[in-house]
Amino acid sequence: MSAPLLTGDDLRKSFGPTVALSGAGLELSAGEVVAVMGPSGSGKSTLLHCLAGIIRPDGGTVRYDGRDVSAMSDGQRSALRRSEFGFVFQFGQLVHELTCLENVALPLRLGGTKRAEAERQAAQWLDRLEVGDVAGKRPGEISGGQGQRAAVARALVTQPRVVFADEPTGALDSLSGERVMTALVDAVKQTGAAILLVTHEPRVAAYSDREVMIRDGKSRQVESVPAGGA
Ligand SMILES: Nc1ncnc2c1ncn2[C@@H]1O[C@H](COP(=O)(O)OP(=O)(O)OP(=O)(O)O)[C@@H](O)[C@H]1O
Ligand SMILES: [Mg+2]
Repeated sequence: MSAPLLTGDDLRKSFGPTVALSGAGLELSAGEVVAVMGPSGSGKSTLLHCLAGIIRPDGGTVRYDGRDVSAMSDGQRSALRRSEFGFVFQFGQLVHELTCLENVALPLRLGGTKRAEAERQAAQWLDRLEVGDVAGKRPGEISGGQGQRAAVARALVTQPRVVFADEPTGALDSLSGERVMTALVDAVKQTGAAILLVTHEPRVAAYSDREVMIRDGKSRQVESVPAGGA
């Protein structure tokens, strides 16, 4: 087996007196879909934020593609996030003042792509996620499920190698949630990206290749469990 693309080892993180992670580990290989499961407050989002270089752990190491993320400066980590990673959160977090097309084009624009080209690619991704018809609408004018599919398009438009998805269907009913998950997993299978998926819904985790549990309230350990199988 080839070396994992992303590795977290013995990660520790506290917020004041609250221990969020106390020795969590995880490996993600290229193209793999891994679901992180566990009860509320167990440290799932904190683990995702450490692995994605959003927050710096107090202890332990994060390695991405042979590089030690924990040792990078803030600027290096933010450049890494922009160029290699995509993000989908529970409430989409689309920019309300922009149309869906402009939202999806935004990561390309920030990376220096000219407007016409960015919007051409954005339109393709919206079509691929079957929300091309809402391209000209603002987030307040579309459904939650459409918004999440637009958010997935925005996460994928830069063709990231890893997509971090924190409860991407948490605000949706189960049918809309399944459409979002199907669209996300199908799209990354085409691009070859890996997904780190945080969820507490077994139905959502079933889209993964492998499940990892964070147990025990303040999360002492992350251990592999047999794949739930999709
Ligand atoms: N910025 C923060 N400041 C203070 N405490 C925090 C912060 N972020 C997380 N925590 C605490 O760390 C612990 C783990 O939080 P985390 O958000 O990682 O849990 P989670 O598993 O994602 O929960 P949920 O399923 O509810 O999203 C919790 O006790 C939480 O209250
Ligand atoms: Mg969380």
